[in-house]
Amino acid sequence: MIIIREFKPKDLLQVFEIERVSFKDPYSPLLLLDLYYLHKRTFLVAEKNGRIVGYIIARVVCDKGHIIAIAVHPKYRRCGIGTILMKKIFDIFKEYGIKKVWLEVRVSNLGAIKFYKKLGFHETKIIKHYYRDGEDALVLEKLLSFDN
Ligand SMILES: CC(C)(COP(=O)(O)OP(=O)(O)OC[C@H]1O[C@@H](n2cnc3c(N)ncnc32)[C@H](O)[C@@H]1OP(=O)(O)O)[C@@H](O)C(=O)NCCC(=O)NCCS
Repeated sequence: MIIIREFKPKDLLQVFEIERVSFKDPYSPLLLLDLYYLHKRTFLVAEKNGRIVGYIIARVVCDKGHIIAIAVHPKYRRCGIGTILMKKIFDIFKEYGIKKVWLEVRVSNLGAIKFYKKLGFHETKIIKHYYRDGEDALVLEKLLSFDN
């Protein structure tokens, strides 16, 4: 069974390990902790048998929701955990009255782009050289409604 709950500082090393194996340019443990202090209600983890298998970090900016990061441990991908984490964040955003969500994704990250499109995101623009290594970001947006 997958439990979705708020991140706690004791989860830091497990979350960092998923971050490290998932991204070219991972956030440091210190940055993850800063994000927790800034966005406690929207930093969620997915737990299975007492282990952290995925996480999502989001924030509210004015009247919009922003997905800062999401990752699932490679062993647990394609089992629906990423979808569960995103839907939980959509529910929290809806409680806040938020109607629009956006995120950035590397243009080369085709798996994640498919994942987001399946969740109803659409492309809005490209930001040139968004990432530290110079790669462009695709900006994706989604409108929240009662049935999604
Ligand atoms: C993107 C990510 C969070 C998706 O998590 P997940 O738990 O594997 O996603 P789900 O199992 O909920 O996937 C739902 C659907 O999205 C699509 N999808 C997900 N990953 C995909 C991939 N690698 N390639 C193609 N489609 C994919 C599929 O349609 C999938 O449904 P299916 O498995 O029934 O075909 C995960 O692949 C990951 O951690 N990637 C590395 C980190 C990353 O790139 N994060 C996003 C940065 S912006």
